[in-house]
Amino acid sequence: MRTDGDSWDINTGVGSTALFVAAARALAGRAADAPAHDPLAEIFVRAAGPEWVDLLEGRVPGHPLLTPDFGMQFQQHQIARTRYFDDFLNAAAATGIRQVVILAAGLDARAYRLPWPDGTVVYELDRPQVLEFKRETLTEAGHKPRAQRHEVPVDLREDWPNALCENGFDPSLPSAWLVEGLLIYLPPAAQDQLFDAIDALSAPGSRIAIEQMDPLPEAAATAMADSDGGSDWVRLIYNEPRSEATAWFGARGWTGERVYLTDYLQELGRPLADGVQQQSLINLVTVVRP
Ligand SMILES: C[S@@+](CC[C@H](N)C(=O)[O-])C[C@H]1O[C@@H](n2cnc3c(N)ncnc32)[C@H](O)[C@@H]1O
Repeated sequence: MRTDGDSWDINTGVGSTALFVAAARALAGRAADAPAHDPLAEIFVRAAGPEWVDLLEGRVPGHPLLTPDFGMQFQQHQIARTRYFDDFLNAAAATGIRQVVILAAGLDARAYRLPWPDGTVVYELDRPQVLEFKRETLTEAGHKPRAQRHEVPVDLREDWPNALCENGFDPSLPSAWLVEGLLIYLPPAAQDQLFDAIDALSAPGSRIAIEQMDPLPEAAATAMADSDGGSDWVRLIYNEPRSEATAWFGARGWTGERVYLTDYLQELGRPLADGVQQQSLINLVTVVRP
């Protein structure tokens, strides 16, 4: 169960979800024709311990990330959203945006992976231990950021905008914001505060990409809690009704659209993994401030 002010590192609590999704990206991105590829994800997973190496080497066939009823869908979800957000950030850079804020960056290695134009600054916000693990692991493996990368160690339930601005973020310039794999780990009130803060810090021309999930029906949440695959995850989320991002930002003058993950997979020409209904709760949003 979650509590106000709970804390974690890469192997515990909400921090372990960063590792879990990185492992899903590493596995799903192996196929040559995968929608996206994140080769750095495998470096994190290997550094996380022998049980993770065993997963990558195929020695844990029953691992939750490999089960047909949860794991294979989850892998498909992760690699599709990687593609969506990679495309979003590349498009934002093409409009001239040079300030990028990745909220709950976890093991997102886009600062090291994407072809950023000169002068791009990427701000990564997460808990300090998570950011440290990322930097130390990639430095050890010989990788360098391809943009100016600023770590902003914060708790996103608290006053993070000050920390962001103290690290050099300039609210008078347009910015691109990424909110991937975060909202369900925030109580609904903290999500609204987060939206308020992004809105207040965004100059005209800014854009935001968000992953959100409609609440899991109670029966599905209970079934997941009882299953092998998703049990831990269900205990880490706030499965509660909350603001819908397109409507919330639309009411404040932003324009944009959302697409359900299943529809997005079809747009990409991808057959849906078996039993994919649950994924249709997940949707991807892009909004732009005119
Ligand atoms: C599922 S991971 C997603 C990481 C990354 N965005 C990705 O998609 O690979 C969730 C991340 O949210 C971070 N997170 C959740 N709640 C947070 C909070 N209150 N403050 C800072 N980070 C938070 C966790 O530390 C973790 O890295």
